[in-house]
Amino acid sequence: MRITVTGATGTQGGAVARLLTERGHEVRRMTRRPNSSTDVYGDFDDPESLRAAFADADGAFLVTPFGVPAETEVRQGKALVDAAADVAHVVFTSATNADRGTGIPHFDTKAEIEGHLRGHPLWTVLGPAAFMAAGGPVALPIPADLKLHVVAPEDIAAMAVLAFEQPERFRDRRIDIASDRLTGPEMAAIRGTEFVEIPLAEAERYSADLAAMFRHHAEIGLDLDVAALHAEFPEIGWHSYANWI
Ligand SMILES: NC(=O)c1ccc[n+]([C@@H]2O[C@H](COP(=O)([O-])OP(=O)(O)OC[C@H]3O[C@@H](n4cnc5c(N)ncnc54)[C@H](OP(=O)(O)O)[C@@H]3O)[C@@H](O)[C@H]2O)c1
Repeated sequence: MRITVTGATGTQGGAVARLLTERGHEVRRMTRRPNSSTDVYGDFDDPESLRAAFADADGAFLVTPFGVPAETEVRQGKALVDAAADVAHVVFTSATNADRGTGIPHFDTKAEIEGHLRGHPLWTVLGPAAFMAAGGPVALPIPADLKLHVVAPEDIAAMAVLAFEQPERFRDRRIDIASDRLTGPEMAAIRGTEFVEIPLAEAERYSADLAAMFRHHAEIGLDLDVAALHAEFPEIGWHSYANWI
């Protein structure tokens, strides 16, 4: 299959492009700074470049950037969906429970893009939890006893590649994904480091958007049954956090 992967120089797109290549698919890695024969130029603000990057592709993996204004993410996400209108299967990576009206800015933007994608003949939305991270102390604005859903980027990629390879299993579905669920102190113990609970007010000064997400995690929590997900997709070979570290 020929798949155009957006965000290919980033965490998710990079993992997806690597795994597709390993599995023998033809990959077009979209970036604003192409520097290899498998790279294709594309700018989310340049619809013509997007149409060219998606031309004759069997699949498109769509990712939107974090840290841009909400209206920018929505505009760029919808432009990606529009440009991929003739691509047989579109897989959009969103965020866990982004469709629940959480009020978290970078979740609600994704819900809007998901709504736009639902008009496509064959779509899949993956909703990853927080990406697994390594290095330094585990400093998070969450209580020490809160179990956080986390996902290995490699597992996001494995789900995306499986979706392209087995489209009927993923047809018009929205699937939230996490690899493991554990507390900050449990993560710190695995990393041989300390857990530091950052006051939410401090996180708020850094990013009101992320603070809103962590407040939601602590007060409402994510609705994602990890055991049921892993039972449905055993071939992913889900990483535990310890295993990933
Ligand atoms: N971090 C988490 O824990 C987490 C969890 C769930 C969901 N998310 C969501 O994941 C998304 C980010 O994914 P990521 O972390 O994999 O990305 P990333 O590592 O931050 O990389 C961003 C990618 O987007 C591309 N990009 C940005 N603006 C672009 C533009 N105007 N035109 C073309 N390409 C553009 C960049 O390509 P070039 O610079 O090469 O052009 C780069 O490949 C965000 O929407 C975030 O909300 C994150």
